[in-house]
Amino acid sequence: MTQSPWPRLAQPLQLSRQTVFVVHVPLETDDGQLDRLKSVLSPDESTRADRYKVPQPRRHFIACRAVLRQLLGECLNCSPAEVQFDYGSHGKPALRQSDSTSPRIEFSVSHSSDQALIAMTAGRLIGVDIEQQDPSVRIMKLAQRFFSAREATELMRLPEADQQAGFFRGWTCKEAYLKATGFGLSFPLNKFSVSLDPRQPAQLLEVVDQPTELTRWRLLTLSPPEGFAAAVMFEAFHEEPQLSVASFDLRQFR
Ligand SMILES: CC(C)(COP(=O)(O)OP(=O)(O)OC[C@H]1O[C@@H](n2cnc3c(N)ncnc32)[C@H](O)[C@@H]1OP(=O)(O)O)[C@@H](O)C(=O)NCCC(=O)NCCS
Repeated sequence: MTQSPWPRLAQPLQLSRQTVFVVHVPLETDDGQLDRLKSVLSPDESTRADRYKVPQPRRHFIACRAVLRQLLGECLNCSPAEVQFDYGSHGKPALRQSDSTSPRIEFSVSHSSDQALIAMTAGRLIGVDIEQQDPSVRIMKLAQRFFSAREATELMRLPEADQQAGFFRGWTCKEAYLKATGFGLSFPLNKFSVSLDPRQPAQLLEVVDQPTELTRWRLLTLSPPEGFAAAVMFEAFHEEPQLSVASFDLRQFR
């Protein structure tokens, strides 16, 4: 089982504008645990889980959604099963909460292989992404296809030893932006650029025709388990929030 590099989550998250939490969740489960996790899903989530043809992604979806429900339920003082979601026009899940809830609870979820990240805060839109750094990926070909021209050029100019890390840095940062905005893949991937140099801090460099986006967002890379890359993006207004990372062991699920 993959060891989390982050300290174990010891208490319910105290959500506020001042803190961005990112929780790492290793998703491997045994069958007994899976039944308990599945029992808190809503009927539409169970239907979605049953649509997965391959068992592993199905199990990972169930585990991730159940933990998300527990973390949100603890913040709302309700059981995991009572948490309700709405979905944006491009599929971004959001917590159903009364209009008077202020600041609003925001979250984002990402899973890759058997690892997940759940990012949560209040009063700031947020997006998170984790990707397994598969060494067989043909990074230059994918960069030509999915990255902006500026990013593809930057990747080619990196020293060869940094290109794989640069590619996954770019990929996770781009996904974090698509998820924070909620646009998902409806927003053209070549219309914005992030920095790729893994030796430099991550940065949103350009959003075509939208210069105010550059100051709107803060982008950070994360240190997930070995073999993975990850990034989180959140709205930068108000004071700079503190980043707090933790891991959730599925045995903590109640
Ligand atoms: C759906 C998308 C937002 C992320 O998908 P992904 O990277 O394949 O998968 P992740 O595990 O990181 O994220 C999935 C989660 O994003 C969330 N999500 C779905 N649509 C979303 C949206 N429009 N905005 C924000 N979050 C969204 C959901 O919580 C989902 O979790 P669930 O499957 O447990 O419900 C979208 O960007 C996508 O399909 N990407 C495909 C990958 C790609 O081609 N990337 C190119 C990068 S250069």
